[in-house]
Amino acid sequence: MTVQPSVLLIAGSPSEQSRSAALLDSVNDRLARRSGFVVERLNIRELPAQALLLAEWGHPAIAAAIAQVERARAIVVATPVYKAAYSGLLKVLLDLLPQTALKEKTVLPLATGGSPNHMLALDYALRPVLQSLSARHILPGVYATDAQVLQVADKRYEVGADIAIRLDDAVLTLLAESFRMPATTGFAPVHFSRVRCSV
Ligand SMILES: Cc1cc2nc3c(=O)[nH]c(=O)nc-3n(C[C@H](O)[C@H](O)[C@H](O)COP(=O)(O)O)c2cc1C
Repeated sequence: MTVQPSVLLIAGSPSEQSRSAALLDSVNDRLARRSGFVVERLNIRELPAQALLLAEWGHPAIAAAIAQVERARAIVVATPVYKAAYSGLLKVLLDLLPQTALKEKTVLPLATGGSPNHMLALDYALRPVLQSLSARHILPGVYATDAQVLQVADKRYEVGADIAIRLDDAVLTLLAESFRMPATTGFAPVHFSRVRCSV
């Protein structure tokens, strides 16, 4: 039996209703239209808090989370901006990972923040940590302000049109980098009878 490579979506917010997780859901919707890989999800907030904080590698849930990272070929990591950096919840997970946990992997970072002021947190705070874990390629991140992730029914969040376009691009790049899929959707085929020559 061949094991399909996976894309792992990591949600780094401690909140149940989460804007950064909405970015991740949106990426998930885009990945679901493609085949050739499986999509897995890791909601860090669902891991046992004590095991996470005390780095209990032997705990089955922690071991399972590390195994998810290990088998992923591509990783999308979403975090809220907290105090001009990424969330502490994400940090405790990253601290648990082996030093070369992201070797050979492509990573797409996503973040939401209250304002545009800390949009560079992805680059100055998260990127160096991902780099230190030996990521092969860290793609340009997608940052959305709270105003760009709208609350809809049942306290759910939905990304606005401008962010949706950026996520479209980011997912195509992620698939091209990780699975050698075409980076653009290309042009619709033109029938030969409609081709006109100018000579
Ligand atoms: C403890 C805390 C610290 C925050 N710090 C910042 C910050 O420094 N800069 C910023 O732009 N937003 C900050 N915010 C706002 C959140 O980043 C923003 O609301 C984000 O969309 C929340 O994402 P989530 O719903 O996925 O948790 C902070 C929010 C909290 C609760």
